[in-house]
Amino acid sequence: MTNETILITGASDGIGAVYADRFARRGANLILVARRAAKLEALAAQLRGTGVVVEVIAADLSRADDLARIEARLRDDDAITGLINNAGIAGEQAFTETDPAYLTGLITLNIMAVTRLSRAVAPRFAEKGAGTLINITSVTALMPDGFTAVYPASKAYVLAFTEALQVELGGKGVKVQAVLPGITRTAIWTAEQIATMPDAMVMDVGVMVDAALAGLDMGEAITIPALPERGDFDAYMAARAALRPNLSLKAAAARYRV
Ligand SMILES: NC(=O)c1ccc[n+]([C@@H]2O[C@H](COP(=O)([O-])OP(=O)(O)OC[C@H]3O[C@@H](n4cnc5c(N)ncnc54)[C@H](OP(=O)(O)O)[C@@H]3O)[C@@H](O)[C@H]2O)c1
Repeated sequence: MTNETILITGASDGIGAVYADRFARRGANLILVARRAAKLEALAAQLRGTGVVVEVIAADLSRADDLARIEARLRDDDAITGLINNAGIAGEQAFTETDPAYLTGLITLNIMAVTRLSRAVAPRFAEKGAGTLINITSVTALMPDGFTAVYPASKAYVLAFTEALQVELGGKGVKVQAVLPGITRTAIWTAEQIATMPDAMVMDVGVMVDAALAGLDMGEAITIPALPERGDFDAYMAARAALRPNLSLKAAAARYRV
């Protein structure tokens, strides 16, 4: 990947930092984005030891001015061949108790930034007929009733959005992948939260990212690192596809006719 430059959001910690490590080992140059400049610089110094070029940009992607800076870079820098939309937050309480301002911040980062950064880079990738776009969603996208209200909905957005981009950009030679991690051992969880979870349900972050990259290398559009049987997901998608011919018809279903 010596001619590649990958921009990774949320690269200062957790999943994003491991992606940075793995892409550096593949020989890709990196642009690391997150709020904590010191953490980004420390990671960059370590990764430069592998011989790749690593640039750090401190930015809060929930702020319009910072987001606009990263958008401009993605739009204008022809060297950038990959974008990993990884930055995201969870941390909401019960819906009735969560500060509305926190929910705005979550939606802005988890949805708005992913959409705007993808939009910034997609025209260049489409025109070139090349490029890699990886969007980190979550298994909660598939179980909106199993967690909190807004985080899973934000991840369902990212999944639906990525599936649509696969149709529009995939045909033009752009690799588009949605990654759905289950519970992954990172700082998104408090130590107390992790301690209450069955160990068998918690994946180490290196294992998660290596599996996601194996999925990317296999050309998967949607990768669920923990799911043992790929066929189970294919059956789910086939059941969803079977609804399609009947989802928009002139007549209302017989049960709704009054
Ligand atoms: N861990 C899991 O169990 C799990 C499961 C499914 C999906 N995911 C998804 O995986 C992604 C990465 O999460 P993680 O587990 O690696 O969490 P993490 O360890 O908390 O890392 C989150 C990263 O996002 C950055 N970030 C947070 N707010 C930001 C902002 N406003 N602007 C720019 N960067 C920001 C953080 O850096 P700064 O604080 O320096 O800005 C950090 O680098 C998220 O999208 C998350 O929803 C995680």
